[in-house]
Amino acid sequence: MVKTKSIFVCQKCGVQSPKWLGKCTTCGEWNTFVEEVVNKKQSTSKLSVQISGNQPLTLENIKTIKNQRISAGINEFNRVLGGGIVPGSLILLGGDPGIGKSTLALQLALGLPERKILYTSGEESLQQIKLRAERLDIINDNCLFLCETSLEHLIAHTEQMQPDLLIIDSIQTVSTETIESSPGSVSQVRECTSAILKFAKRNDIAVILIGHITKEGSLAGPKVLEHMVDTVLQFEGDTNYMYRILRSNKNRFGSTHELGIFEMRSNGLREITNPSEQLISKVNDDVSGTAIAATIEGARPFLIEIQALVSSAAYGTPQRSSTGFDLRRLNMLLAVLEKRAGFKLIQKDVFLNIAGGIKITDPATDLAVICSILSSNLDIAINHKNCFAGEVGLTGEIRAVSRIEQRIAEAEKLGFSKIFIPKLNKGFDTARLKIEVVKASRVDEVFRKIFR
Ligand code: TYD
Ligand code: MG
Repeated sequence: MVKTKSIFVCQKCGVQSPKWLGKCTTCGEWNTFVEEVVNKKQSTSKLSVQISGNQPLTLENIKTIKNQRISAGINEFNRVLGGGIVPGSLILLGGDPGIGKSTLALQLALGLPERKILYTSGEESLQQIKLRAERLDIINDNCLFLCETSLEHLIAHTEQMQPDLLIIDSIQTVSTETIESSPGSVSQVRECTSAILKFAKRNDIAVILIGHITKEGSLAGPKVLEHMVDTVLQFEGDTNYMYRILRSNKNRFGSTHELGIFEMRSNGLREITNPSEQLISKVNDDVSGTAIAATIEGARPFLIEIQALVSSAAYGTPQRSSTGFDLRRLNMLLAVLEKRAGFKLIQKDVFLNIAGGIKITDPATDLAVICSILSSNLDIAINHKNCFAGEVGLTGEIRAVSRIEQRIAEAEKLGFSKIFIPKLNKGFDTARLKIEVVKASRVDEVFRKIFR
């Protein structure tokens, strides 16, 4: 017998309540409760079941999935996943609208000619997908397309076709008949994902789920979705710029340190295998206000240009603005500059910009940021063959940074002649290096060396 029950579910955290609440008692959000009707089959509660199917096994008897990974035609994608797509795994690909999730998924599907792929979309019509594929200019006869939003139909088609890879664009458009709430609601997303998960594991089909991101920047649907899937990938970037970064926030089959960099072109996404060369403008004239930082994002070292502009404030309160760098950290560095370099901030506007619209989280960028600001303020250019790596502390000390050898090696590879690093980074050999390594323990030491 089917029993109908109505519950209220918080759309933010997924907590359920028998009655409507204005404020969620778990996550504290207001107005997030939505009524959802659940049809639950009455369970015949039985504690003992007959053993069938799965048996406990020793590690030795479990068949390994090593080397069976599906290698995607996009190397940056393989790198982020840790070597390719694991059969039977569930990958959640999230990102802001318009960032290029559908493009990435389509390019991935079309770039695997020797695999059977089913690409289902609830967002775009088949004609729209075809138009996009024509733009990408790749032809693949082993990839089938389907416009479907019903979970039951979707699973039936997949069961019949038995593809190696199933792509669902997007999980928020899929809905199941067993739940009466609207597509995209927390319980629909959760129920559909768990059904797809069971189906994928049973049939050894890898699934890529595309997911939307909420206003707050988390993947829509509660965190519970992230627990269910094997891998959570985030596609990010500034839509006004062409660079896109693919990160993994969770990966059961590889590290989460890897990162893939792409460029959005008129004919689709192009991989960037050597980011440093792209992210430094090729002007050889020294201009004031720029400094090169040797950063590490993910597991990859690259050099990036930091630009600063310091000008006299036209209005009472000076402006502080930054693109790609944390504003609070910028304010802290400005305070350090005021204290340690006699930099008078009161009448100055400060603008900071990281090249290519890329967001940098590596604290080792601090030294380059502080040097670029001072360079702009003094209107003295920093030699374009110099680069910097170092975290700046509140007293103006330069703190040690991680993986300094990798940073130095990347700077050397790109032909830089001098790198400023923290004195505290010890224990590596600089004798064989062509690049001059300058160690400093305080920011004023660095200033004296570059602005003589
Ligand atoms: P899309 O993949 O539709 O984004 P999402 O699925 O994440 O919402 O891509 C959106 C943007 O990408 C769109 O605004 C146009 C741009 N784009 C290109 O610049 N070049 C291309 O070849 C394609 C297909 C899209
Ligand atoms: Mg899309």
